[in-house]
Amino acid sequence: MSRNFILLSITYLVLAGGAIGYLLLSGKILESSKIDDPARVAMGGELYQANCASCHGVNLEGQPNWRETKADDKYPASPLNENGRSWIHSGFQMFDIIKVGGASVAPRSIGSDMPAYENKLDNKQIWAVIDYIKSRWPAKILKINESANLFGGFCVSGSVFGQTKKYSPVSKKSIKERGKI
Ligand code: HEC
Repeated sequence: MSRNFILLSITYLVLAGGAIGYLLLSGKILESSKIDDPARVAMGGELYQANCASCHGVNLEGQPNWRETKADDKYPASPLNENGRSWIHSGFQMFDIIKVGGASVAPRSIGSDMPAYENKLDNKQIWAVIDYIKSRWPAKILKINESANLFGGFCVSGSVFGQTKKYSPVSKKSIKERGKI
């Protein structure tokens, strides 16, 4: 085998590995988010109004003073529109929060009022709700969220708020489920 052939093969493997790595990291292979599918967004909207609007608001506006804990030390429901911070999460992280509930990512001492939907919504329905939420974000926010998707599959976006460790357990718990719809 010529030296050139070996070098070319190595270059090819590095490039192919990089491409697959990028697709995995960005969630493009595993994540099932499709905000350009009107039927799916419409289904997500109905599910949102039926399951989520009571706390997060009919217009995703959240509850007042959502940054401050209530008398019971738990946080109110945050806005899911551009005024909140849900867009720092990758699609996977949102999926985890909705599927297994907020308590699995909140500090144990505080707990969370965000319910788990694993027994109410199937994976396809959870992704549809995520798509509905994303479809309401302005282009600027969607762009920022893309970087959460790029790194967030491995929890980097969570580390912006010092939450990487809190996300790890829940990610392991439902990682096998996320891609399947
Ligand atoms: C009983 C009230 C309640 C319902 C119903 C509810 N949530 Fe929540 N949700 C919360 C609270 C409270 C938080 C903040 C949790 C915390 O910080 O501990 C939250 C947090 C979240 C977050 C993380 C947002 C962020 O700012 O980091 C997402 C995403 C979310 N909810 C989505 C949903 C979706 C989708 C539904 C419906 C399928 C839903 N929630 C239904 C109370 C609720």
